[in-house]
Amino acid sequence: MRPFVYELLPGRVVFGSGTIARLSVELDALEASRVVLISDNMAKSEADRIESDLGERVVGRINEIEPHVPIEEVEAARRLADDCQANAVVTIGGGSTTGVGKAIVLDRELAFLAIPTTYAGSEMTPVYGITAGEVKRTGRDPRVKPKTVVYDVDLTLGLPREVTAGSTMNALAHCVEALYAQERNPIVSIMALEGAKALKRGSVIVAGDPGDVEGRSDLLYGAFLAGASLGAVGMAIHHRICHVLGGTFGLAHGDANAVILPHVVAYNREAEPEVMAALADALGVVDPALGLRELAETIGAPTSLSDLGIREPDLDKATEMIVEGRGYNPRPVEREWIRQLLEDAFAGRPPSTH
Ligand SMILES: [Fe+2]
Repeated sequence: MRPFVYELLPGRVVFGSGTIARLSVELDALEASRVVLISDNMAKSEADRIESDLGERVVGRINEIEPHVPIEEVEAARRLADDCQANAVVTIGGGSTTGVGKAIVLDRELAFLAIPTTYAGSEMTPVYGITAGEVKRTGRDPRVKPKTVVYDVDLTLGLPREVTAGSTMNALAHCVEALYAQERNPIVSIMALEGAKALKRGSVIVAGDPGDVEGRSDLLYGAFLAGASLGAVGMAIHHRICHVLGGTFGLAHGDANAVILPHVVAYNREAEPEVMAALADALGVVDPALGLRELAETIGAPTSLSDLGIREPDLDKATEMIVEGRGYNPRPVEREWIRQLLEDAFAGRPPSTH
């Protein structure tokens, strides 16, 4: 067995249907008496309900969130927290919404409770990202991980099809990259494989019936495991590519993940045969790269970068940024490969089979 080091991260997780009803009890446990409530547009009506339930406990609100956590938004949110003397932050929404909460507590001592409504998984990680001047910088700091996470399946039943698809592929990418991460360990691999299995199962059900509670439970459970895996180990080239496409070229993180993941799996396949066999098994497919591409098509996730707003001349600049980024990948990163991958992904070609 490979030797390993595994640092368990503290945190409380409440999972189920209707769990939002426990919010005030969970906030009591955190001694959160003055809350800044942050939601994105999609979760606004749910945030309205939370505000009316919590009453005067909510001392400040933010209802609009830009993607990729821009620094200006972070500074405004920190000012708001200061101005209303908040002692807690509650976020409800997708990864960028959780991301703003993290950016606040990176610099302020506030209790932090997150209610994720997508499959981004950020709520389970000590990783934060802030975009300044078109570049998204990420870092790790245990202070940014939410103290409590409330997963309520009911909040995800109405998640639009395109968001569901991209977000599911993002969660799958967390499982995949955790499996071949430099810091991989047996416990995290169990979580990642179980996560991949649940995500595959749930995504197929939900593609047929978006409101299926069991399918949505599988997806949220899979996303939780994917996020916990992402929080425990470092990611590899797939995430570097997606951060460049998102931070610099404005692509939605989930959409970028959906297009890129099958190509990266194809590239890393030979370097990690055992991992890929286990992944194929979890997904119930013969070839994990082709299986992921097929899944993207089945659930209606994008398969081509050209549909996502990036222009062909941008691919050179993106290649440079990705290659310069360095970092671990099981197979060494070559410039020609990145360029070819981006070109294939741009044209919507299937991943290479050899
Ligand atoms: Fe991600």
